[in-house]
Amino acid sequence: MTEVVGTLLETTGWTDYALLDMGAGEKLERYGELTVVRPEPQAMGPRRLSAETWAAAGAAFTGDTEEEGPGRWRTTTRLSTWEMSVLGLPFICQLTSFRHVGVFPEQIVHWSWMADRIRARVSAGGDRPRLLNLFGYTGLASLVAASAGAEVTHVDASKKAVQWARDNQALAGLDAAPIRWIVDDAVKFCEREVRRGKAYDGILLDPPRFGRGPEGEVWSLNEDLPHMLDLVRRILAPGPSFMILTAYAIRASFLSIHELAADLVGHRQGRLESGELVLVETGDPTRPGRRLSTSMFSRFEGAS
Ligand SMILES: C[S@@+](CC[C@H](N)C(=O)[O-])C[C@H]1O[C@@H](n2cnc3c(N)ncnc32)[C@H](O)[C@@H]1O
Repeated sequence: MTEVVGTLLETTGWTDYALLDMGAGEKLERYGELTVVRPEPQAMGPRRLSAETWAAAGAAFTGDTEEEGPGRWRTTTRLSTWEMSVLGLPFICQLTSFRHVGVFPEQIVHWSWMADRIRARVSAGGDRPRLLNLFGYTGLASLVAASAGAEVTHVDASKKAVQWARDNQALAGLDAAPIRWIVDDAVKFCEREVRRGKAYDGILLDPPRFGRGPEGEVWSLNEDLPHMLDLVRRILAPGPSFMILTAYAIRASFLSIHELAADLVGHRQGRLESGELVLVETGDPTRPGRRLSTSMFSRFEGAS
């Protein structure tokens, strides 16, 4: 297996998304028609845009600076939901009490990579590739995969998140796309798939640091990731299948997840690449944008 460590996968945004500025412990971003301010412990430098630009944001999150902590939005906008689009797919945004708005923009690099591989499989002929999206949240990766030609199984513990994902499916006009929406604990679901002898051509997992299954099952990334990855290894099809793991809000180097993944897929022919997902600031056109690391990733692609 080839190993590539230390890759920075950068996103400079797209029509509907921009990281405009960061500094003094906060970041200023544009999500479609709404500009928002959120806490960002890594924004240690000075702000580049004016105080007026920051003050004109439609919503600002105040509260716990920990990624998973609760908090509130202070708003000057009347928007409670609005639309934006990614890779040609429209979706719904909302201000949630967990500071998120329904999309993690840095994930676009993984979604494009995944969609390229699905399209290549589809154009090579044969059955639709099977894609498993664990901790799938508002379903954007599931919709990107389905529109590229995959048959998708989407798993999330939250009924509310799955409903949001279904609403996104309807908005994108993908009602007829082959997507199974499953409200379940990701670990329990994978244990069942191992017992059933199921196999997937692609598996995405973007687990939170802490979470709960629908029946109160506790998910703790540090404790449960090794078992989860072992299950993933067992349901990942042989040959040119792929796995994309992202982890955020944990105090660790990407090497920790790289080595874990290497132990699990090291016996296979293929390529394992690890590093960080990075947003690049674009608000000041007169200067090169600063980079902001949002999360760490490891992705594996089996050789054909
Ligand atoms: C931050 S989101 C993942 C983001 C998503 N991959 C994306 O980019 O759109 C984490 C998700 O994990 C779900 N979750 C938390 N604990 C879970 C568990 N034990 N089993 C399944 N899903 C869980 C939450 O409901 C939430 O939707």
